[in-house]
Amino acid sequence: MTDSFLAQRLYLGGAGCVLALLIGCAPAGGPAPKGEVVEIETIEMLPADKPAQPAAPGAIAAQAAAVRQEVDKRVAAADRTIDEAARSIPAATPARETIVLGDAALTSGVPGAGPITSEQIDRWLADPKNSVTLDPVLPLGLSQGAKQITGLDTNPLTRAKIELGRQLYFDTRLSADATVSCASCHDPAMGYTAHTATGVGIRGQKGGRNSPVSFNRILSGKQFWDGRVDSLEAQAVGPIANPIEMGFTHEGVVERLGAIPVYKKQFDTIFGELTIDRVGQAIAAFERTIVTGPSPYDYHEELLPFAKLDAEDIADDRELAAKYATVKAAAAAHPMSESAQRGRGLFFGKANCSACHVGANLADEKYHNIGIGMDKREPDLGRFAVTKDPADTGAFKTPTVRNVALTAPYMHDGSVATLEEVVEWYDKGGHANPHLSDKIKPLNLTKQEQADLVEFMKACTSPTTPVETGRLPAAADL
Ligand code: HEC
Ligand code: HEC
Repeated sequence: MTDSFLAQRLYLGGAGCVLALLIGCAPAGGPAPKGEVVEIETIEMLPADKPAQPAAPGAIAAQAAAVRQEVDKRVAAADRTIDEAARSIPAATPARETIVLGDAALTSGVPGAGPITSEQIDRWLADPKNSVTLDPVLPLGLSQGAKQITGLDTNPLTRAKIELGRQLYFDTRLSADATVSCASCHDPAMGYTAHTATGVGIRGQKGGRNSPVSFNRILSGKQFWDGRVDSLEAQAVGPIANPIEMGFTHEGVVERLGAIPVYKKQFDTIFGELTIDRVGQAIAAFERTIVTGPSPYDYHEELLPFAKLDAEDIADDRELAAKYATVKAAAAAHPMSESAQRGRGLFFGKANCSACHVGANLADEKYHNIGIGMDKREPDLGRFAVTKDPADTGAFKTPTVRNVALTAPYMHDGSVATLEEVVEWYDKGGHANPHLSDKIKPLNLTKQEQADLVEFMKACTSPTTPVETGRLPAAADL
């Protein structure tokens, strides 16, 4: 064995990793296991001045020993470098994580009880899992709406951001006199609305329109009954400065939040700044996690494809048979009455409700005049105020019928008290006016058919994401 050969083929321990790190291929796979034989072609370890001349055996042995010593020294140095490098790599946290929306863990608040303290928030913010970008998956029922998901590219979801948004949503300190929060008009206990005809803000002031639901917003771009803002982020900061809602100013709210240490820390860590736009982003992130879960209607929908199959064919296919058994059990646990099933047929058929109440959220995200309020002397012009297109006069955004049984009263002005009355409205063909949608016509439904439609809408009721409502930042530094 020649000296140069010795130098080229080294028992290098972890030293190979140093080379791998240098050429940039190590981080993905991590350091190679120690003790590996590594071929090194470029490093000249030895003075290669006299390899061609035959040397005395004793001299060769002495040289070899010197080489080994030198190699051991370098291996030890390389190992130290590797250990240092390994320590500087943060503990493995996945870059992204997939989560199914509706998961209570996302909105259960910072661990603990009572007002959130600085110490609790420091611990929460330091946990790397809370800053991982989340890729949301929609639950059964909404899942066909995946393509409708909007807003995540400009405002990615993280647990920390969602939690900050949750606190802001329930915090009355966002209003001028600290009496009104978003939840005052979009209360989880009232199906994310308020049971008043129109929104009631600070000092009991009444607004002009009914509070719509604030769930399933992840499926919706334009917000408000007239779609006047393009994003949930833009919507979220509106009520704060609306004189009859929260009656505050954007500067005022930023200043007040900045004086609450627990809020300040969160904005600094999550966004690097506290601005009104960041307030909007945090609230929007929280809202995007509030979704309706599967309702009896959705479980029943899962069952329908099987009804078209032959019972024997299902039995012959073990996988299919197992799926059928699961779907059947779920539907049986969340039954849809005969009346509701007939109502489903009417909703998507003769009564033509699905001309507008369609898609995952049973809402087409479009604007229609169905005649509500058009008999008033000065009707609310709805979408017209935004587009100035006469065809949009009195047109409002189609609301969802998911959980609609929980959100009376109805319509943009809260003028309709019950679902029975809603169906009567459609049955008589709305209210005639020059801008009435051509999809609204008298339906001539029987009393039973009207009742069936109501039963169908009730079968679209499901639990929403469970949310912690009480845990808010402590007023002072605790
Ligand atoms: C005083 C009652 C009130 C308060 C407080 C309030 N809202 Fe609203 N919200 C309404 C009303 C009324 C509308 C409909 C207004 C319109 O369309 O012109 C609305 C609309 C919305 C919408 C649009 C929903 C859709 O389908 O287009 C969202 C989302 C929303 N509010 C979230 C919030 C958030 C977040 C807060 C807190 C920052 C908040 N609201 C505070 C009453 C209120
Ligand atoms: C032309 C489109 C269209 C059709 C068809 C239609 N809707 Fe609507 N629906 C709307 C719009 C738009 C509103 C809100 C109107 C307003 O407030 O001015 C609405 C409101 C509702 C509401 C009140 C929801 C709330 O939260 O206030 C219910 C319930 C409802 N529709 C059920 C039905 C049923 C049942 C049918 C079929 C019989 C039906 N809709 C047919 C567009 C439509």
